[in-house]
This record gives sequence, C-alpha cells and structure tokens, in this order.
Amino acid sequence: MSSTVEALAATPAGETPLLLRALRSEPVPRPPVWMMRQAGRYLPEYMAVRSKLSFLELCHDADLCCEVTLQPLRRFAFDAGIIFSDILLPLEAMGCPLTFGKGHGPQFSEPVRSRSAIDALRSIDPWRDLPAPLRAIQLTNARAGVPILGFAGAPFTLACYLVEGEGSKEWTATKSMMFTDPEAFTTLLNRLADMVGDHLQAQIDAGAAAVQLFDTWAGALAPDDYRRFALPAAQRALSRVKGAPTLYFTRDASPFLPWMREVGADAYGLDWRADMAHARAILGPDVPVQGNLDPQALQAPPALIAEKVRAIIAAAGPRGHVFNLGHGLVPTSPIAGVQAAIDAVRSWSWA
Ligand code: CP3
Repeated sequence: MSSTVEALAATPAGETPLLLRALRSEPVPRPPVWMMRQAGRYLPEYMAVRSKLSFLELCHDADLCCEVTLQPLRRFAFDAGIIFSDILLPLEAMGCPLTFGKGHGPQFSEPVRSRSAIDALRSIDPWRDLPAPLRAIQLTNARAGVPILGFAGAPFTLACYLVEGEGSKEWTATKSMMFTDPEAFTTLLNRLADMVGDHLQAQIDAGAAAVQLFDTWAGALAPDDYRRFALPAAQRALSRVKGAPTLYFTRDASPFLPWMREVGADAYGLDWRADMAHARAILGPDVPVQGNLDPQALQAPPALIAEKVRAIIAAAGPRGHVFNLGHGLVPTSPIAGVQAAIDAVRSWSWA
C-alpha cells in the first residue's frame, strides 16, 4: 500500500529499481546511490534508539533493526537500504561469545586458535539461530519501497576477528595460524564459507533484493595468500547463493583486481584508493562496479563533493555503476556532506 511506503526515493510502481538495473548493466538515467553504514552513529535518530539499549541488543530486535534501516531512507533519497545487523552476529550464533565494548570495537573472549576450537564451532540454521536480520528484511521490505540489501562477512574477514579475538592492524594470530597450520586455517575458512553462503541465501529467501559480501581485511594479504585463502573461500560462499545479485567488497585490495572476478560475484565494490576508470578496465567493461568516494571527502565544501562525485560517475561510465563510498560512513561524517553527495548523484543525467 502506498501509505506504508517510507523511503523518499521509493521506486514508482511497475518500474525496475535503479539498483537492479545497474547491477545488470542495463542503461540507467543516473547511477543508483546508497552508502555503506548509512544507518548508524552519524544520525541523531540512530543515537536516540541506541541510547536505550546496547548495539547487540539492537541487532537482535527485528522491529528496531527495521526502524534504524528505514531512518536514513526517510532522511535522504537513497535508492537502496541495507539491513541493520553486523557481520559478526553469525559467529556469536556459532558459539563464540561476542561483546562490543565502549570505545573499542568487537571482542571475542575465546579466540578460535586450535583445531579443537574449530571443530567446536556450531553449525547454524539461520532461521532458528539468527532470526532477527531475516525478520527485519521482511518487515523493512513491506515498508521501504526501495530494494533492501542483505549482507555477510566474507570467510577470511570473519576468520580475522575469530582467530585474533578483536580488530588488528597486523592480524598476527590469524597469519600465524595461516602460515603454521594452513590445513586448519582452510578448514576454518570452509566452515565459515558454508555458513555465510547459507546465511546470504536465507536473506534472499526472506526478500533481500541483492546481497553484499564484506571482505574488509582481504587487503592485508600478499597476492599469493589472497589467491590461496581469501579468494577461494569467498568463491565457495557465493557458489551457494542463487536468486539475487551478489556484490563483493574489499578494502586495500585493488592489486588483486586482475583475479578478483574468480570470486564469482555479480559486481565488485571498490575502495577509494582504486582509480575508477583503471579498475573498470582491469575487471572488464561488462563487470558492474560499486563505489568509491573517500568517506572523509564528505567533510569537503558541497561544491568540491559534487565535483568528486561527478568525476567518479564520469569515469565509471553509463552502465554497471552503483554509486557508493569507498568504505562506510563514520560517526563524524557530516549530514550535509552526505546530502551534497546524494544531490550530485541524483542531478547527474546520462541523457
Ligand atoms: O551499513 C549499514 O548501515 C548496515 C549495518 C552494518 C554494520 N556493520 C552496523 C554497525 C554493516 C554492513 C556492518 C558490517 C561490518 N561490521 C563490517 C564490514 C564492513 C566494514 O565496515 O569494514 C565489519 C568489519 C564489522 C565489524 C564491526 N562492527 C566493527 C569493527 C564495529 C566497531 C566499529 C566502530 O566504528 O566502532 C562494529 C560495530 C557496528 N556495526 C556499528 C554499526 C552501526 C556501531 C555500533 C554502535 O552503535 O555502537
């Protein structure tokens, strides 16, 4: 019913959403736009919800996940939403106690560093063990009026948190397992890949219009280790997924673009270090891409933001481009900068 549609940029009835047209490399008047972490701490309405409960409590409450997913869609004319959740929740469901402390990031109190710890990981059934994001997709789909993306962490990136126990710059414990017991590390990646594939498929079955696999830390690897560990694990996860387009996002991983297509995603997310035209030339003109404005550029004056946005769109070309940031919004991202970037995308015309 039209009265229940809440997104400013709701797709007119009978039209295919811009996001899906771009992901199929069909002609579009302008690229669709959404932003990673578009729900979150830079929004006062998110902080108001968060003041009443913890981040993890929020992630397990489907009604509130729906509400905070809709918040940025009511404020800005984004062409898609991304369901509010976190890549680490399925690991909690696999039996790994997870906390998000104040001022520091996620922590697992029992890092997975041995074969017995890998064997002890529980297999999960997404509907039984992690219903909130699936239920939230259903609720949000009924109200948003724009496509809703599901997501998961890629196996290598999840293994980083699980083995390390927390975020890191060097990933010492993770690489120690990778280099000293590569069979065990591969077993862990395969367990995670199968879980991630099933979790993404459940999100599609719940109504996600597309799904994104976040391989945020793949760029920490040397090229041969990327090809040996992260790439085949991401490929294994996506091989289990059918029925909606898939996106694969990496950070600091542009040097791996020549082989990245082997992951088998329908589109590739680029961070802001990638030169858009060069990246498209390497991936091939038929491969849709997403990105890639530096999130920190949203602090620039509106005219400079518009200039940078237009340069990215022009370099990407008329087909197969979804406009996004090169990584997520941060708590200090200025709302006026987000608005300026969206305005610049929406005023573009390929006609
Ligand atoms: O994009 C969205 O709006 C959807 C929700 C979403 C969150 N996390 C919410 C979140 C998504 C897609 C993620 C993905 C995620 N989570 C990644 C991959 C993408 C990336 O950003 O690299 C990673 C590595 C994580 C793990 C994670 N979750 C970290 C490291 C942190 C702490 C980081 C920080 O900035 O403090 C989180 C917490 C988190 N996930 C928040 C949000 C809104 C902040 C939590 C809060 O409200 O206190």
